[in-house]
Amino acid sequence: MMKNTHWTDYWVKGYVTSLPEDFKSNYDGELLDFWRNAFSKVPKNARVLDICTGNGAVALLAQEYSDEKNNHWKIDAIDLAEINPKEVLYKNHTKVETSLINFIGGCSIEDYSVNENDKYDFITSQYGVEYCDLPKAVFNISKILKDGRKIGIVSHSPESDMLKNMIRENKDYGLINRLGFFEIIKSFAKGNDSVKSFKLKIMRLTNALTTRNVNSPLINDIVTNLYIIGNMPTKQLFLNRKKLKEYSESLNNAQLRMRDMLQVSKKISDKSGFVDIFQRNSLKLIEDGVINYKNKHHAGDYYIFEKQE
Ligand SMILES: C[S@@+](CC[C@H](N)C(=O)[O-])C[C@H]1O[C@@H](n2cnc3c(N)ncnc32)[C@H](O)[C@@H]1O
Repeated sequence: MMKNTHWTDYWVKGYVTSLPEDFKSNYDGELLDFWRNAFSKVPKNARVLDICTGNGAVALLAQEYSDEKNNHWKIDAIDLAEINPKEVLYKNHTKVETSLINFIGGCSIEDYSVNENDKYDFITSQYGVEYCDLPKAVFNISKILKDGRKIGIVSHSPESDMLKNMIRENKDYGLINRLGFFEIIKSFAKGNDSVKSFKLKIMRLTNALTTRNVNSPLINDIVTNLYIIGNMPTKQLFLNRKKLKEYSESLNNAQLRMRDMLQVSKKISDKSGFVDIFQRNSLKLIEDGVINYKNKHHAGDYYIFEKQE
């Protein structure tokens, strides 16, 4: 299984959720209500697993709930990316004690295994399982879940506003790719281009982007940065080559994450196919529906499956 470096690069920055503009300190509103309602049916002393956890957003909600109700849950949280929430969350998330959660990075749900006695009472997945090799992941989830216990899922929705934004962003990335943004910066960072020629290319690129007048937050942000880069004194520009490379790599990783999300949304556009994979693995659909955030924003679809004996 390939390591998810574009996600590792994201989590190391200390974001709590994968949608920091909408959910900075953690999921709230109707998303939080969904999870708290699901948690209310999980017994005391349960073993809980959050899959595709990222920096542990849902694991943190579970820990908070368990602390509040004195439930003494034992919470594990895994992700394929190399994660270290205990280190990176200290600035953003002080409310919940991360030290009790067992975070496991570099671990795919398809390959994760536990002893018979350590099987789970509840598994959670927020914008998670749909990123995996679904048939293999669901097969394994069914193996590590106790009979009669449940998995709660909030998935991206093929009809969501987020998807519309992603389609838009994908076009923006397409544009900067076509105009050679990544190549221009890579070549300068490698020392293959003089400052003079680099500045000329940056100027042309800025012009090409502004004349297109695409009115997108992503392109506006890039244009602002290109303007600063293009007007930097020669010496300063030369000294900042490493930072430029990091900027370009971080944009490229954002592009890869966005493509991941886009592919995932397409993958789950066949909802009944999605549900079938679970039902074929002894996971019976108990509840499903739509999560409308603040009654206006389609934030995702939810599902609860129960493991049959
Ligand atoms: C959109 S993020 C969601 C993270 C978190 N649940 C949240 O809501 O903030 C998807 C996560 O799935 C992880 N992932 C992708 N494939 C995986 C796999 N096969 N096994 C475990 N984690 C995986 C990625 O590394 C990424 O951190």
